[in-house]
Amino acid sequence: MKKVILLSTAAAVCVTTLFAIDLKELAKRSDKGIKKPTMEYKIPDESTIPNNQYGDLVKYGKELTVNTFKYIGPEVEDPKMRFAGNNLSCQSCHLDAGTKAYSAPFVGTAAEFPQYRPREDTIGTLSERVNGCMQRSMNGYPLPPNSKEMKAFEAYIHWLSQGVPVGGAKMEGRGLAKIDRKMVKQRAADPKAGEKVYEVHCVACHGANGEGIKNEGLANGYMYPPLWGEDSYNRGAGMFRLLKAADFIKSNMPLGATNEHPILTDAEAYDVAAFMNLDSHYRPEKINRSSDFSDVRVKAADVPKGPYMDKESETTHKFGPYGNIIKN
Ligand code: HEC
Ligand code: HEC
Repeated sequence: MKKVILLSTAAAVCVTTLFAIDLKELAKRSDKGIKKPTMEYKIPDESTIPNNQYGDLVKYGKELTVNTFKYIGPEVEDPKMRFAGNNLSCQSCHLDAGTKAYSAPFVGTAAEFPQYRPREDTIGTLSERVNGCMQRSMNGYPLPPNSKEMKAFEAYIHWLSQGVPVGGAKMEGRGLAKIDRKMVKQRAADPKAGEKVYEVHCVACHGANGEGIKNEGLANGYMYPPLWGEDSYNRGAGMFRLLKAADFIKSNMPLGATNEHPILTDAEAYDVAAFMNLDSHYRPEKINRSSDFSDVRVKAADVPKGPYMDKESETTHKFGPYGNIIKN
């Protein structure tokens, strides 16, 4: 009897060495040897933008963030300017023109680049990061690095990052706030329960088919953006991943929610994110998605496409539970 117990303990130890993502390895690759100070989250005052070429570019960058569809969307008059493949705006996810805390804001972002990017397994620049969202969240094409539009995004993000030292700072409000990782390790998300959350908290704005409500006229964007369908983010987008989507939703949706005053519980955010990203909800495919996270040691836990370092299925990576996937 004793022997059997010992054997099963040994097997359990074996399994723990096969977690999907090696967070130590990721930390090692992300290290710049730069010590980050702790700073307060601060949005600069717009009245301080100067009246000169730099100021004009900053203002154009903000305008592009808010009204992306008007300048580089798929419905703009000049076919050469149709870089985005959908009518979302950057602000659809980076709320309040990229200044809302915990909506992956641009405040402090410029100070963080260049940085290690596990998805590409390389050191990426800020313009490459913008083009990551162009090709995934916006389901489109990369902007040329020297285009006026890319320079404007860079200038706006640079201006929003003023005062943050090169190398970046630890700051409340940057990135997304994480929902309870203990829960996501213990149970899979339940898209059926998520559908109920959707009907109560989301359907009024985002529609019964996730289609949102479009504004009148061409290249005029949405009043409420679509969550799935032809005109939404593609399968290579961060928002297509369960934990990223749940983290975003918890502190930003329904509209009006914040990290300090959320409307959904962590469980509701987890379930509704799973419902939103169901494979039965059509969304465009990302070209060459299989080359994402080519090094499985630093592959994010919720990427719903193998191969993986662990033995869990694509379904478990898509819906959880993440107990055998995420280590600490
Ligand atoms: C469908 C949602 C969505 C849309 C639309 C979107 N993004 Fe993103 N973006 C994300 C997510 C999710 C992240 C990653 C956040 C994280 O992991 O903390 C991100 C990250 C970024 C970052 C890095 C931020 C940082 O501080 O490291 C930049 C820069 C960025 N996006 C620019 C843009 C630009 C410019 C546009 C419009 C052309 C855009 N994004 C449109 C979802 C979106
Ligand atoms: C009162 C209307 C409203 C409600 C209710 C609402 N949203 Fe949104 N949602 C918005 C708006 C508006 C945006 C775009 C942000 C902006 O433009 O400021 C958005 C953006 C989003 C986005 C990112 C952009 C995209 O199109 O993918 C997601 C994801 C999202 N909402 C999910 C949800 C979920 C899930 C719920 C229910 C829990 C919900 N929303 C409830 C209005 C709403």
